[in-house]
Amino acid sequence: MTTTLLAGIGELVTCDAAFGDGSPLGILRDAALVIEDGVVAWAGPGAAAPATDRFLDAGGGCVVPGFVDSHTHLVFAGERSDEFAARMAGEPYTGGGIARTVLATRAATIEELRSGAAARLAEMTAGGTTTIEAKSGYGLTVADEVRLLEVSREFTRQTTFLGVHAVPQEYAGDREGYLDLVCGAMLEACAPLARWVDVFCDRGAFSESEARRVLSAGKAAGLMPRLHGNQLGYGPGAGLAVEVGAASVDHCTYLTDDDIDALAGSEVVATLLPGADFSTRAPYPDARRLVDAGVTVALATDCNPGTSYITSMPLMIALAVRELRMTPAQALLAATSGGAAALRDPRVGRLSPGASADFAVLDCPSFVHLAYRPGARLVVATAKHGDAVYERPGFSFSR
Ligand code: NIG
Ligand code: FE
Repeated sequence: MTTTLLAGIGELVTCDAAFGDGSPLGILRDAALVIEDGVVAWAGPGAAAPATDRFLDAGGGCVVPGFVDSHTHLVFAGERSDEFAARMAGEPYTGGGIARTVLATRAATIEELRSGAAARLAEMTAGGTTTIEAKSGYGLTVADEVRLLEVSREFTRQTTFLGVHAVPQEYAGDREGYLDLVCGAMLEACAPLARWVDVFCDRGAFSESEARRVLSAGKAAGLMPRLHGNQLGYGPGAGLAVEVGAASVDHCTYLTDDDIDALAGSEVVATLLPGADFSTRAPYPDARRLVDAGVTVALATDCNPGTSYITSMPLMIALAVRELRMTPAQALLAATSGGAAALRDPRVGRLSPGASADFAVLDCPSFVHLAYRPGARLVVATAKHGDAVYERPGFSFSR
């Protein structure tokens, strides 16, 4: 067993209320972490740290759990900057652009899909992200959805089958036929490659009964449900998420008081995607309303070429604080332990004993700088299972 000491932590944010100052963030100052075989074994005052085999130095910075980006469309080809520009000139977002990304994705080679995903993941890692979820949904044939999930699995265990993202052009006028395909041969081929099943249940997308059908078929095939809902207007997404026991309902831009009451009485996480609201010039949801009601909130990027071509979790935190009315502490929790809850993975999103030693080192005295200094490159290093996966030029753990 290799033991590693991460010392020189000016501010350690464990995101575990059982630790440190007793706040929900569990903060320790002048702290150290002991890592055994990639897992946090001890967290405490630097002066009390035990001897270890290996030594890493955080340089006096702030250490936070690696961000958990619980909603991404990592694998796709092409881009839609023209559509973004048209929206900024006043066009509404309708979801119609998904078809363009489907055509580009089908035409791409597997190497192109892989290298595009790797480049986006590298950006995420440089921004402090250590866990991502990745969805299919830009293939929409059996073979293309399989291909997207196979590539996704090269990057994460948290893969999601999103066959019901749009009706592909070859099924235009035959929604039922497409849903039969999704719930039949497509699900059969994709279920072994995925952990989750997702649907786009919204205005102009798929209805409540269509979504219920696909989520039920996914559950019967061994997948756990999550869904896109309440992005484009008030609607059935949140209620359906509670009904089917989904891990999470994602977007939540438009929620009624009844939706919030239903979420508060359930285990469903409300995942907010402020990058999509930003890039579609939609109103921002009021996260404070959700937190005050007792709903578990997650923040994620929704990285995709249509509504949020964004890889930065620090930007999500800054938007959540400025626009969604979260406190900096609530936003950091949502970007770490909230994402872990949305992915039902208790080993990530915190830095207390038993957690995976996944963390970001920030070149600042307090995590508050994530929201206070939007756009600054605060992440100087990112580590997964205790090993550096990113170091900013000029920074080194070992000195
Ligand atoms: O999460 N809302 C549905 N799907 C994506 C956008 C897809 C696209 O426009 O390409 C989202 O926002
Ligand atoms: Fe999405």
